[in-house]
Amino acid sequence: MNKPLLKLITVLFLGAFTHNLYSQERTSINLKQGWEFRHADEKLAYQIDFDDSKWESVTIPHDWAIYGPFDQEIDKQIVQIKQNNEKVATEKTGRTGALPFTGVGWYRNTFTLPKHTPNKQVLLTFDGAMSNAKVYINGQLVGTRNYGYSYFYFDISSFINHEKENVLAVRLENKPFSSRWYPGAGLYRKVQLIIKEKISFQHWGHYVTTPFITDSLTRVNIKSKVKGKNLRIETQIMDAEDQLVGSNTETTLYGDAFIQNIAVQNPNLWSPETPYLYTAKLKLYEGDTLKDVETIRFGIRNIEYSREKGFVINGNTTKFKGVCLHHDLGPLGTAVNKSALKRQLTILKDMGCNAIRSAHNMPSLEQLELCDEMGFFFVAESFDEWKKPKVKNGYNLLFDEWAEKDVVNLVQATQNHPCIVMWSAGNEVPDQWGTAGVKRAKWLQDIFHREDPTRPVTVGMNQVKAVMKSGFGAVLDIPGLNYKVHLYEEAYEKFPQGLILGSETASTVSSRGVYKFPVKPATMKHYDDLQSSSYDLEYCSWSNLPEDDFVLQDDKPWVIGEFVWTGFDYLGEPTPYDTFWPSRSSYFGISDLAGLPKDRYYLYRSKWNKKDETLHILPHWNWEGREGETTPVFVYTNYNSAELFINGKSQGVRTKNTTTKQDRYRLRWMDVKYEPGKVKVIAFDDNGKSVAEKVLFTAGKPHHIELKADRTVLKANGEDISFVTATIVDKNGNPAPLADNRLNFKVTGKGTFRAVCNGDATSLEMFHHPTMKAFNGKLVVLVQSGFKAGEIELKVSGSGLKSSEYVLKVVNP
Ligand code: GAL
Repeated sequence: MNKPLLKLITVLFLGAFTHNLYSQERTSINLKQGWEFRHADEKLAYQIDFDDSKWESVTIPHDWAIYGPFDQEIDKQIVQIKQNNEKVATEKTGRTGALPFTGVGWYRNTFTLPKHTPNKQVLLTFDGAMSNAKVYINGQLVGTRNYGYSYFYFDISSFINHEKENVLAVRLENKPFSSRWYPGAGLYRKVQLIIKEKISFQHWGHYVTTPFITDSLTRVNIKSKVKGKNLRIETQIMDAEDQLVGSNTETTLYGDAFIQNIAVQNPNLWSPETPYLYTAKLKLYEGDTLKDVETIRFGIRNIEYSREKGFVINGNTTKFKGVCLHHDLGPLGTAVNKSALKRQLTILKDMGCNAIRSAHNMPSLEQLELCDEMGFFFVAESFDEWKKPKVKNGYNLLFDEWAEKDVVNLVQATQNHPCIVMWSAGNEVPDQWGTAGVKRAKWLQDIFHREDPTRPVTVGMNQVKAVMKSGFGAVLDIPGLNYKVHLYEEAYEKFPQGLILGSETASTVSSRGVYKFPVKPATMKHYDDLQSSSYDLEYCSWSNLPEDDFVLQDDKPWVIGEFVWTGFDYLGEPTPYDTFWPSRSSYFGISDLAGLPKDRYYLYRSKWNKKDETLHILPHWNWEGREGETTPVFVYTNYNSAELFINGKSQGVRTKNTTTKQDRYRLRWMDVKYEPGKVKVIAFDDNGKSVAEKVLFTAGKPHHIELKADRTVLKANGEDISFVTATIVDKNGNPAPLADNRLNFKVTGKGTFRAVCNGDATSLEMFHHPTMKAFNGKLVVLVQSGFKAGEIELKVSGSGLKSSEYVLKVVNP
């Protein structure tokens, strides 16, 4: 064992940040540092004295596969994707991202518990481990967990040495043909040690609900699981300013639970617009001895789903303006990072999005915390497969043994998040066919209800005819339809619930800054450059354009909202190029893999963001060689009407109308002839008054680089990230929309270069190398803070371009 002293210091150091190690209170130690890793099947790596000195030192969260290289042979799947209506099997490259996620990976760490722990209980918790985890302490197998997205923990009290070094080893194994997207690999979420008294609150043991709410009074119900005699719970409820607003003491145990009802006067209600949070401080006493303290954050909000009013939050009918998200964070892979998640949500909030669906698995706890704080509804999903396979080594292998346990952990670990307003038991499961699937749907839904009677359950269904016939759709609390807009009416008639959720919508495809001619709607369209057009008229054989959903949302009160596939591009599933190479990430995103908005972002923003003005012109205006050719111009705006000018010549006024679904939501000038120069749009309000203006110029030669960070002040915590967008511009500062210069990055000072991404689904450049070609004039550089306060300098240079520097600040957390 190498570096034990360093590791020991690391653990104690981190522990010192949580709670006093010697009090009766629990201590949580986030095991981030001191890990050794190897991507190989080292047979004896679980043993205490195994020599891991030559292994790679890593920090957790960690995704071993994101460092590549991309290789089309990795997990090449020769499959017929039935849910996509494919008739024959074809060779799918890049379906799981073409990154080396398969095989075995080992992680090892050592820790020494503080003195005074022999009589304590020690838990080892994982927020997820990809996948087939086998966990060893001091050479002994503690337990296993197969599903890579599941939260799980083990009581390791009887496995550890007190006051001596303990060796933790985790073996993970990802099988080929186990996923339909990039699953990532490794300990990609938090790992923690929790040290608490033997008599203490059960892990995930509190369940907070607010069953009675009026303007003046709320009943906060808290169920807390404990075992023991002569126990007492003392609770204080604090508001967001940490002022006491309710309290209670309870001595009666109902079986293994305290049940308290606590009054909170004049409650501040949680909603996406007002994400107000309370905390409950819970103290457990045995006689007069304090045994445990936990703080649980919750919101006071009322949700209701009714055929008369649809989805109602705190008395207001609201539609889900939602997006589906896979769990990868583009250039970071699946290694969870709160700054990256926060940036995604900030971008989505500006778009007017109010809801997230975690497709097709358990979300990270960090994402739920942020949704509570920033105000997003959340549909937390469990599975992409039940017992019938989509991929050979998928969840179908685990369903019988693990489905109930995985659902229970999902609910228990996340139930106090006010953002969660619905559970999803599955996505397009092939069990939609046949009677066994109906029983499985009921069985899973009953488990959700047993664990949490306050939220309804949905399943994203794409076999709509089959589920109308079999009763599968009728069983669910909320029938969720994936695509199939032409069947909404029929499903509404046939299903008894009186509501339909667009659990997955659109799957329109586009590449940022790419425009194709002629401009016309197309399905599964292929071009030689393996890109899709940002005129936003291309979609899949099973899917549709955004307006097909908008019409249903606007015209049918019984449609309670939609979740667009997807908010951001993700690694893997490069439809419509899944049989082409190189192509390794999706085209579905409203924003690209780097988080840069595509044009579609402004289409959704023009409809969803009711507060801010949207006035966006497409395409770019650098079409050398297209002079005199028809080059349509689209404007996405919240205004109903606008006039377009090319070099001062009016192209006419367009007003939203119902001729086609597109004309209802976009302003389109289809006959514009290209000439270089200036494009100007003037928008009018409903009285015909000009209220906003936007211009766009033909850019000159790429000249210099403009840098703009999403955040300029970072925390000195070793993991905060600033996302710096580099835009190549001409000498007048106009973005050069076709520039593909290679850029190089140098980071000095109190931070490091973390990654870079240009959003090009066909790029095989690795994200962690400090160089990359710009894609359509842009890319995003990720700069990470160290542990010290000070300044970070980022220098971006590129051949033929004047380089740029940017200074970020790092402050003590
Ligand atoms: C759906 C599926 C998603 C994704 C999407 C692409 O059928 O649920 O996971 O594959 O299609 O359009």
